Amino acid sequence: MSKNIVLLKGDGIGPEIVDSAVKVLEEIAKKFGQEFNFIERLVGGIAYDNEGAPISDETLEVCKNSDAIILGAVGGPKWDSDEVDPKKRPEQGLLKLRKELDLYANLRPATIYAALKDDSPLKDRIVEKGIDLIIVRELVGGIYFGERKTYEEDGIRTAYDIEKYNENEIKRIAKYAFKTAMRRRKKLTLVDKANVLDSSKLWRKVIGEIAKYFAEVEVNYMYVDNCSMQLIANPSQFDVILTNNIFGDILSDETSMITGSLGMQPSASIGVSRVNMYEPIHGSAPDIAGKDLANPIGTILSAAMMLEYSFDMKKEAETIRNAVEKVLDNNLRTKDISSGKDFVKCSEITEAIIEIIRK
Ligand code: IPM
Ligand code: MG
Repeated sequence: MSKNIVLLKGDGIGPEIVDSAVKVLEEIAKKFGQEFNFIERLVGGIAYDNEGAPISDETLEVCKNSDAIILGAVGGPKWDSDEVDPKKRPEQGLLKLRKELDLYANLRPATIYAALKDDSPLKDRIVEKGIDLIIVRELVGGIYFGERKTYEEDGIRTAYDIEKYNENEIKRIAKYAFKTAMRRRKKLTLVDKANVLDSSKLWRKVIGEIAKYFAEVEVNYMYVDNCSMQLIANPSQFDVILTNNIFGDILSDETSMITGSLGMQPSASIGVSRVNMYEPIHGSAPDIAGKDLANPIGTILSAAMMLEYSFDMKKEAETIRNAVEKVLDNNLRTKDISSGKDFVKCSEITEAIIEIIRK
């Protein structure tokens, strides 16, 4: 049966990397007799410029009625100025999508490829123990969506943003994380700031309660400051990291970099409806946009996650992952992972991946 996939290419390098993923998916469709129907809509700065909002109601409707969404990246200096209403900034398009589709579970795996070990900024003796972890980030609550205000108090400029979670929001992401751990190495680390924050204390209580239903899973608790250090000192200790929206945002940039490049890492945002969203974890990289220099692998691997999670096409997903690994083994590198040596273009590495799939 044909799958309707909405493409939200967005800004900066978004169009190039999504085009790469589409080409790979078209090859997969040919090889495995699948049918993908691509529907393009705007999101981010380009949507703001053309449609007056970072995501239009029409686009949201199309997304809600699709089978899956692939998103490139949003934002750029063009929309950073004070002239753009903060409520209409490109990032708001992404946040609205997450919220409206209730994509509460954001999965950000970080794995290190043998061929890229030298690209990790970590010492060999640390990398050698392996990095294979996944961050399960709560995506539609907390400080990102809490009450916020900027105002004057006794003539002094003041602002606040509220971090608030209820137990139901914590329970559903916790269950998702435990189930994820059950399919992996059965180790879960809750990352929080429970030595200071009430919201973190509630997370700990709720996770402790859920843990009883998953007796096989080893549960650890870690403060976020310690975790950011442990990820550098001893990343192999982690399997599933469960955390809130803001800590997940910060830690996932760190986990992606320790594996060699931000450009390599995919993500999936899973919701309660059947429509999920897939995007690379990096940003729009406006400095290299339009130059065919971007690394499309994060987006291509996001498409593989889509095949597996949304369409249950495991063989197809595995074929993509193997092709990516092969291309890296063959020493093909985009600029970000070339460590100053020769590199190929975004379109060239895409072609190389497709060539391997075709065989
Ligand atoms: C991410 C991004 C977004 C976030 C931005 C663009 C709003 O950094 O997906 O990690 O903070 O969630
Ligand atoms: Mg981020």
